[in-house]
Amino acid sequence: MKIQHSKQLQQYNSFRTKAVARLFCEPQSVDELTEVLKSFPHENILILGAGNNMFFTKDFDGLIIKPEMNEINIISEDENFAEIEAGAAVEWDNFVERCVSKGYSGLENLSLIPGSVGASPIQNIGAYGSEVKDTITLVKTVDIKTGEQKIFTNDECRFGYRDSIFKQTRRYIITSVIFRLSKSFTYVEKYIDLSRELKGNLSPSLTQVRKAIIAIRTRKLPDVNKLPNAGSFFKNPILTKDEKEALQNKIIDVPIYNIGENSFKTSAAFLIEKAGFKGKTNGKVGTYQNHALVVINLGTEDGKDILNFAQEIINEVDKQFGIKLEPEVWIF
Ligand code: EPU
Repeated sequence: MKIQHSKQLQQYNSFRTKAVARLFCEPQSVDELTEVLKSFPHENILILGAGNNMFFTKDFDGLIIKPEMNEINIISEDENFAEIEAGAAVEWDNFVERCVSKGYSGLENLSLIPGSVGASPIQNIGAYGSEVKDTITLVKTVDIKTGEQKIFTNDECRFGYRDSIFKQTRRYIITSVIFRLSKSFTYVEKYIDLSRELKGNLSPSLTQVRKAIIAIRTRKLPDVNKLPNAGSFFKNPILTKDEKEALQNKIIDVPIYNIGENSFKTSAAFLIEKAGFKGKTNGKVGTYQNHALVVINLGTEDGKDILNFAQEIINEVDKQFGIKLEPEVWIF
């Protein structure tokens, strides 16, 4: 496998910021991956997926590994379910499209999320009432520290809201993910915007649901090829009952979702809009006019500009509402 030197990373992150990696490689198989780990035992290592949820603010003095396992295989199937293994580098939405076209349900609400299959468990991608954790049975990995293969069951992945053991430890390189998808589909309303888009169709097909999701996302979220971005820039804040009440005292109509005992989620997009940042730009960075949670790059190649703009948002939301927004993207 070829090891590249002084690799420009601009095309490998969706914000299109410039940074150089001292070393860079793209293993095509688990064997190639373990081999490269063996060859560079003391190197500082960073794993890159499709680069849709991260950006660079500085050069990387180490080895970037971009797994390129691309296979999709049905590993078991009965009348009701199919278990499918997809390589880490498979493009997420191609995979969803393929599953939907075969009539396998479970991923349709996650249509058009940018990124790779291997990145999907890391932050437990979610949209329109679904999270990827509900379909994952196993995650196959290689341990960066030992070079050994390790398979995680769903429980062992410690999934949470935009969270998992892979995000917490950054120790495991995901090589493939195994999904268990249903061969039947009954639409259950989980998200009012989606039902609205389906225009009263109470029993839509999988393809109709996928189409509706694509329509909503295309309307609300910017095209990454025209306006570089990393999707939602911040996480939706999780609040205790006291924090929730304090916020409601400041903003009567703030959206609140009950997510457990003494646990509430509010909308970061709403708070950012309320703080006056929707569609606002500062130099070459701004937020998208149709969705305040998406930070967009209007022409900078320096990740620090994005970081500074995000900090402005964090400071203003904190000042006005006493809520500290946390980035959902990974800033390197
Ligand atoms: N809202 C505003 N202003 C805006 C946009 C939204 O006030 O500019 C408010 C509205 O009240 C709206 C609420 O925010 O009802 C929620 O907005 P939306 O349905 O777009 O969802 P979100 O909470 O902002 C989350 C995910 C998205 C996912 C959508 C749809 C996070 C951080 N983001 O956004 O995921 O597509 O739900 O389910 O959880 C991503 O992670 O990159 C991403 C795009």
